[in-house]
Amino acid sequence: MIGLEIADGDEVITSPYSWGATTSAILVNNAIPVFADVDPVTGLLDPGMIAEQITARTRAIMVPHIYGQPANMTSICEIAEEHGIFVVEDGSQAHGARHRGQRVGGFGHAAGFSCMGGKPLGTTEAGYMLAARPEIYWKAAISCQHPGGSEAPGRSSELGFPSELAPYIDSLLYTYRPSTVNAILLVEQLVKLDAENEARRANLADLLDKLSGVRSISVPSYREGDEPALHMVTLNFDVEAAGVSRDTYLTALRAEGVPAFVYIQTPLHRAPRLSPRTTGPRVMWTENLRRHGVDYTDLVLPNVDRKIAASIELNWNYIDADPAAMSSLADAFIKLEENLDELRTYERKTTAV
Ligand SMILES: Cc1ncc(COP(=O)(O)O)c(C=O)c1O
Repeated sequence: MIGLEIADGDEVITSPYSWGATTSAILVNNAIPVFADVDPVTGLLDPGMIAEQITARTRAIMVPHIYGQPANMTSICEIAEEHGIFVVEDGSQAHGARHRGQRVGGFGHAAGFSCMGGKPLGTTEAGYMLAARPEIYWKAAISCQHPGGSEAPGRSSELGFPSELAPYIDSLLYTYRPSTVNAILLVEQLVKLDAENEARRANLADLLDKLSGVRSISVPSYREGDEPALHMVTLNFDVEAAGVSRDTYLTALRAEGVPAFVYIQTPLHRAPRLSPRTTGPRVMWTENLRRHGVDYTDLVLPNVDRKIAASIELNWNYIDADPAAMSSLADAFIKLEENLDELRTYERKTTAV
């Protein structure tokens, strides 16, 4: 965002169905998140819904590849080009994922990736950015260049830092650089990334083969050339087919030893801190919304609500072929499917007043 000079009052279209950090990257730059609806099956930004949100103030589209699934970057980039706006990708959950054969992070003008511990490419805490053009990278990199040199000892600027930007280096900055130790760990991990992602996908395919008779849940499918990194697997629960609530199903699933959870329970436009009526502590990244009179109270995004109501997630750190783990997961889902009647009875009893 810094490299693209997105700043005060600029609108950035994004998904409210993501980890909040996708949106906070917009907010910390004093820009305004404009939330668009998603695909109800994958939870990924729906390109058709993006177009509806474009105004004269729109500067960029911020696209999270949620759960490691690749968003439809072909259509999103077409829309952006047509309107002369930037595309920024949040690949934090999708290191190494591909859309139509090309890696995510390489479609937009810039991309950010988190390498926090649990991510497909993870270390303790770190991250990296990609930029489509050197000038975007270097403008962003100003925020990490402490003035240095022999006269002013400190952290000297990065090798190759362009002299035309040198006058703008001062100590008014954040330090977004990862530590050297983490960078070394990440380089080691990177070598394994593709094989691990392949194993994650093969394990999921194995599980799905075993689940062919299970109607209560389904997993999104991806078109040829779209390869998710599967940071998590997102399942969609079919309440009609199951005849019990998602909560009852989740309780039973956990009782069978499957640590399933609902990753996103509140869409970002409903985050209490983004409401103008919030009573919590003042923070710089929400003050800007107040100044611009932004209020998401009346915003209704039906597919976001549908996805949140149906979604069940599984962590998917199966980075080696693991048929035994897939069988035990499958056994749990099959057991539930074969005992839905009992679950309905349980639900009636536990919800009876
Ligand atoms: C989609 C997404 N974006 C951004 C982030 C933020 O990453 P970090 O905590 O490394 O800043 C996360 C972290 O969980 C994430 O899942």
